[in-house]
Amino acid sequence: MHHSNTPSPGRDQADLLERASRYLIDYSRGTGFFPMVIVEGRGTVLRDLAGREYLDFGSGQMCATIGHNHPRMVEALRRSAERVLHLDARLLGAATILLAERLAALLPWPLEKAVFLSTGAEANEMALKLARMATGRYEIVGLVRSFHGLTAGTLQATFNYRRTNTGPGAPGYYAMPAPYCYRCPLGLTFPACSFQCLTLGFQLVDAQSSGSLAAVIVEPILSSGGIIEPPPGYFQELRRMAVEREMLLILDEAQTGLGRVGAWFAFQQDGVVPDLLALSKTLGGGVPISATVTSADIEERARARGFGHITSHVSDPMPSEVALAVLDALEQEGLVAQAAERGAYLKAQLQALQARHEIIGDVRGRGLLLGVEFVRDRATKAPATAEGLAITAACRERGLLVHPQQVRDLSFSWRVAPPLTVSTEEIDRAVAIVDEAITTVLARQPIAH
Ligand SMILES: Cc1ncc(COP(=O)(O)O)c(C=O)c1O
Repeated sequence: MHHSNTPSPGRDQADLLERASRYLIDYSRGTGFFPMVIVEGRGTVLRDLAGREYLDFGSGQMCATIGHNHPRMVEALRRSAERVLHLDARLLGAATILLAERLAALLPWPLEKAVFLSTGAEANEMALKLARMATGRYEIVGLVRSFHGLTAGTLQATFNYRRTNTGPGAPGYYAMPAPYCYRCPLGLTFPACSFQCLTLGFQLVDAQSSGSLAAVIVEPILSSGGIIEPPPGYFQELRRMAVEREMLLILDEAQTGLGRVGAWFAFQQDGVVPDLLALSKTLGGGVPISATVTSADIEERARARGFGHITSHVSDPMPSEVALAVLDALEQEGLVAQAAERGAYLKAQLQALQARHEIIGDVRGRGLLLGVEFVRDRATKAPATAEGLAITAACRERGLLVHPQQVRDLSFSWRVAPPLTVSTEEIDRAVAIVDEAITTVLARQPIAH
């Protein structure tokens, strides 16, 4: 049998994908792997083995904020390969120290102390652990439709992932209703609702709590849950109700942090400062690094209770070097302001599509974190899941990747989130593809009412 680790262009993708199905565990939850093999990424564009190009409007798994293989990242990888890649957890390279200082400078007081890990789930586990150790309590509150990771602790606080057949969970985790105004779980309308989802949510939490409430963990925009953007004032109200219970606020800015929403951090637009901030995906631009940032006071309180956390890659120099390059790119290329500007442009184009296509029930989100929800009927809001999946595939066939978010049989939406470096020309091309894909799919399989 012929073995080669460097497939050459033109080599049969179908053959490689056949081998993928033989040798890789299928973690796709039924959709399977996409029918191509990628050999190159530059900016917004991915190229497959057959030479076909795709606009990546998902930024990979939401990490490639500054575009695929940004030259600054490539240079940082080269530099760190020449210096040192990995060290003992208690042995520091300069990049890690400088990165912590840089984040403290970007963040408002009292967020000034950071720890660097590899994944989003790890950063959230760290936030949960620090919150528990600082408060001496253990109960955690999250939102329905949230996603915080798939490790033991974060999965319990994740309420948008099927737990079927994964055994019993842990006690002390409670869910509150999602602030999903397009489909308000209480059937109310903002602002007349006066945040009843929070009032009811905390009533349920109080009813179940054993008096040990430690923290609330939330995404500023519930991304995997369908790009649910809580209404204005929500986070201030949430903060107020958490403070009443002496609970800490953990914000998980895995996707929203570092420019994507048109601000360095989403919480700056929400008018709150969290006690603990988790950053991940966007920090490394595609290289695994995550951070948990908190106050000196919380760190001190946790240490007084014996806090410690040694992992294989804590404080590793290589990913820190890359994260510094990502911050340089965001700062020196004006990408935060660009996310606001290109995001507004893209959102307007999507709203224009919504005006023409009944199947688009809602367009939402801000900056370059946008959601498009597909419905069979705008009045009943019945989810157009089969049609949405067909349109997603039709876009892919035409060279556009968008991320489908199917929440059981409850809703089907897209996350539309290209790299912040996306050009208006790429946006125009993507929107034209979506337009054509919707028209083609619905001509083939019209929605029966
Ligand atoms: C908001 C949020 N938090 C946490 C995670 C988990 O990050 P990771 O997959 O890196 O563990 C994700 C996505 O995967 C996410 O979207």
